[in-house]
Amino acid sequence: MRQRPRRNRKNAPIRAFHRETTLGPQHFVYPLFVHEQTEKHPISSMPGCFRLGLDDLKHEVQGALSDGVNAVVLFPAIDDSLKSSTGTEAHNPDGLIPRCLRALRAEFPELVLCTDVALDPYSCDGHDGIVSEGRILNDETVAVLVKQALAQAEAGADIIAPSDMMDGRVGAIRDALDEAGHAEVSVLSYTAKYASAFYGPFRDALESAPKFGDKKTYQMDPGNVRETLREIELDEAEGADILMVKPAGPYLDVIRNMREATALPVAAYQVSGEYAMLKAAAANGWLDEPQVVLESLTAIRRAGADIIFTYYARQAARWLG
Ligand code: PBG
Repeated sequence: MRQRPRRNRKNAPIRAFHRETTLGPQHFVYPLFVHEQTEKHPISSMPGCFRLGLDDLKHEVQGALSDGVNAVVLFPAIDDSLKSSTGTEAHNPDGLIPRCLRALRAEFPELVLCTDVALDPYSCDGHDGIVSEGRILNDETVAVLVKQALAQAEAGADIIAPSDMMDGRVGAIRDALDEAGHAEVSVLSYTAKYASAFYGPFRDALESAPKFGDKKTYQMDPGNVRETLREIELDEAEGADILMVKPAGPYLDVIRNMREATALPVAAYQVSGEYAMLKAAAANGWLDEPQVVLESLTAIRRAGADIIFTYYARQAARWLG
């Protein structure tokens, strides 16, 4: 035999020569849930994740930074009394998210602060946009999302990430940020966000599940990939800085497709349901958690993601340590 591929796998240093994909905490964005209460509240379908008050949030961020994770994204659990059909609390300059942003910015100047733009945490209908007669209004929603993005930029966000899937929101947010003097604030677009059942635990975490229907008139059909090319073209033209695929693990082909179709950085979101599956199997002793998690994150990088949003960010950083 002249060809023996095993020669290149002989020992660890030789394998290290040939490793094509690297994984490190510099690739991670750590999603955190916040609420108004001071006590932290566990999320039952996401073991190890909590809704945090401000003090615990700061503590968690400090821990993440010392593990080498330099970026977080915040999601708010809002009291029902503040929810409305137009989601106006989303752009309250003194709302929960702007207050958290100011506090984190003051204490951790180097932290990369990402924010979510969408109305679902603030909507009494549990939809990402404004609902009228059972339909999700696009342009009216974009006008509110723009105000939400501005409130976040004013409060110190570095990267604004619209996850709502309304048409035209990236361009509208980009223009508004520029006009308001926030040319340095980035937009990370959820370019290919699928209508996925893997978001279930996240909706438990925020109590933000849609009150009627589903999200299929704005999020993408899981059977589709060509549509991604159209969304990429639009987001590029509208000035997005980073494009995202979500979920990640079940959509590796979409990540690869996006990687080949754009020169922009690609992000992928390992969502709540992916985390819940791994946690459940690990808790049962069915899978080796550190190994399977690092393998799943490596696979997302191999598919073409530069950045990974993952609830495992801190744990993975330590396992890589
Ligand atoms: C909604 C939003 C969702 C997630 C992030 N932003 C849920 C949804 O679209 O219903 C899901 C994240 C996860 O499951 O981890 N704007």
